[in-house]
Amino acid sequence: MLWFSFFFLVVQFVSASTSNQWSDMVEKHSWVGIPAGWRHEAAAPASHVFNIKIGLKQQGIEELIENLMEISDPTHVRYAQHLSREEANAFMAPHPDSIVAVDEWLEFHGIDPSSAQRSRAGDWITVTVSVEQAEKMLGTKYDVYKHGSSGERVVRTLSYSLPQQLHAHIDVVSPTTYFSTLKTMQDINTLETDRRPLNDEVTRALPGTAAAVPSTCNTMITPTCLRDLYNTSSYVPSAVGSNQIGIAGYLDQFANFADLQTFFKAFRKDAVGSSFTIIQVNGGGNDQTDPGIQANTDIQYSTGIVFPTQNIFYSTGGSPPFTPDSQNPTNLNSPYLDLLTFLLGQETVPQTLLTSYGDDEQTVPFDYATKVCQILATFGSLGTTVVFTSGGSGCPFVTAVGATTSINPEVAFRSSGGGFSNYFSTPSYQKSAVSSFLANLGSINAGLFNKSGRAYPDVAAQGQGLQVILGGRTNSHQSALGFINPLIYSTASFGFNDITTGSNPGCGTAGFSAGVGWDPVTGLGTPNFLALQGLV
Ligand SMILES: *[C@@H]1O[C@H](CO)[C@@H](O)[C@H](O)[C@H]1NC(C)=O
Ligand SMILES: *[C@@H]1O[C@H](CO)[C@@H](O)[C@H](O)[C@H]1NC(C)=O
Repeated sequence: MLWFSFFFLVVQFVSASTSNQWSDMVEKHSWVGIPAGWRHEAAAPASHVFNIKIGLKQQGIEELIENLMEISDPTHVRYAQHLSREEANAFMAPHPDSIVAVDEWLEFHGIDPSSAQRSRAGDWITVTVSVEQAEKMLGTKYDVYKHGSSGERVVRTLSYSLPQQLHAHIDVVSPTTYFSTLKTMQDINTLETDRRPLNDEVTRALPGTAAAVPSTCNTMITPTCLRDLYNTSSYVPSAVGSNQIGIAGYLDQFANFADLQTFFKAFRKDAVGSSFTIIQVNGGGNDQTDPGIQANTDIQYSTGIVFPTQNIFYSTGGSPPFTPDSQNPTNLNSPYLDLLTFLLGQETVPQTLLTSYGDDEQTVPFDYATKVCQILATFGSLGTTVVFTSGGSGCPFVTAVGATTSINPEVAFRSSGGGFSNYFSTPSYQKSAVSSFLANLGSINAGLFNKSGRAYPDVAAQGQGLQVILGGRTNSHQSALGFINPLIYSTASFGFNDITTGSNPGCGTAGFSAGVGWDPVTGLGTPNFLALQGLV
C-alpha cells in the first residue's frame, strides 16, 4: 500500500513537473504596436488550420560561419574550398537534445512528432496545427491583419512566447511576428524602383577591348550597354555545363519563353534559340499566357548577360490569399523561407542566387532576420553567391547591390538603398573601407545611423531604364546588374568604376552622398570586369 501511494505520488510529481515545464512561458519576440502599413481586421478563427515552421538551433552554425569566412578570404589557404553537402548538413543539424525537447513539447500539445515534416538537416520542423493549438503552444493570440496599399491579408501576432526551456533549442517560429509578404515588399519596390542584380560569373571576362558605350545607354539600358559599361563584352563563360544561376520567382510572376526569344532577337542575337529552365517549388505555377514583368526582367537581363550559362527560374508558390472558412491547411508562411529551405534540401544548389525582393530591417523581427541570415551563410559555405538588391540587405553574407543611372558619368541613382544595419555589426571584410568613409563623413548625419552596423551596398550597377519584353512588347523597366564576393573589399577593390556623384535622400535627410572610395550609396562602385580579371 505504501509502495502504491509512493508510486502515485511520483506519478503526480512527474506529471506536475511536465506540465510546468511547458507552461513556463518566456517571450520570444514582440512588437510595441502594429507594424506600419498594417491594420487589425479580426481575430483569427480558432479552428483555422495552418502550417507552422519551427527553426531549431543549429548545432554548428558558429563553426559554419567561421568556415565561411575562411573559404571566402582570398588570402586564406582554404580559399574557395567550399563545404560539401554532408559537411554543411552536419553544421546545420540540431543537437539531439533539441529534437527530443521539441518532440516532447509537440506531443504535450497533441501533435504526433512523426507527422511533422522535417528538413534534410533536421533543423526545420513543419507541423499542421489549428489557430487554437498554436495560440496555446506559443502563449499568443493570432489575428488577421490587412496591408493598406496592397490589400494583402495575413494571420500574425504581435508577440509570441516559448516555454523557457525551449529558448535554448528554438531560434524562431513562423508565422508569428514577421508581417511582410513578398506582395507587400513588391508594393514598396514598385513605388520606388525595381533594382535588379545579376551575376558574379561575368567576373571571368576574357581580356579584350571594350567597345565604346553607345550614347543611347544614357536612357535605355540594354544587355549591350551593360556588357560595354562593365567590360564583359568579350566574356566567354568557362564552365557552361556545370554553372547555374538561380532566380527566385514569386507571386505568380511567370517568366515567359516567347518573350525571351523576342528579347534576344532585339538585344542579344547570338543567344536566339537558347532558353532557361523552370523549377516549380511549393506548388508554384507556370502560366505562359500570363508573363510577369519582374520575372521577365530577371530572366531577360540575366540570360542576356551570362548566355550561354544555364538559368533556372524557381517559380515559388505559397501564401494564398487568406480565407477564414477554408477547411484545408493553409501555408501562411513567407514563400521566401520555403524556397531557401527547399534549395538547401536539394542535391545541388545553383552557384548564384538572385533575389529582387528586399525588406526594411526594422520590419523584420531580430530572431527571424538572424535565422534567414544564417541560412544565407549556409548558401555561401556551399559556394553559392547570394545577391540582393540593397533595400534592406543588412545580412553580412549577401552581396548587396545599389543602383546607378546614366553614363559619362555614371552616377548614383537617388533611390539606391544604402546605410547601416542595427542588427548585424560591421563584418571584418569591410571594416577598413567603412572606417575610411566614416572618417571623411565627419559629423554629417551623426546620430541618424549606426556606425557599428554592417554597411551596404557592396557594389552598384545600372538601376534605371532597362528594356523588358513583356507579352511581346518592349516596356521600360528599372533594374540593376550585380556582382558578388567578399574578395571585392580586398584583392579586387580596385576593379570597380568608383561612382563619386549622386546621393540617396530619404527620411527627411539628404541621405548619404557617393564619394571617392566605398560609400553607402554605390558601395565600391560598378564592376569593371577586365580590370577585375587582372586583379583576381
Ligand atoms: C574596360 O577595361 C579596359 C582595360 O582595363 C579599360 O581601358 C576601359 O576603360 C574599361 N572600360 C570601361 C567602360 O570601364
Ligand atoms: C548598432 O549596431 C550594433 C551592431 O549590430 C548593435 O549591437 C546595436 O544594438 C545597434 N544600436 C542600435 C541603437 O540599434
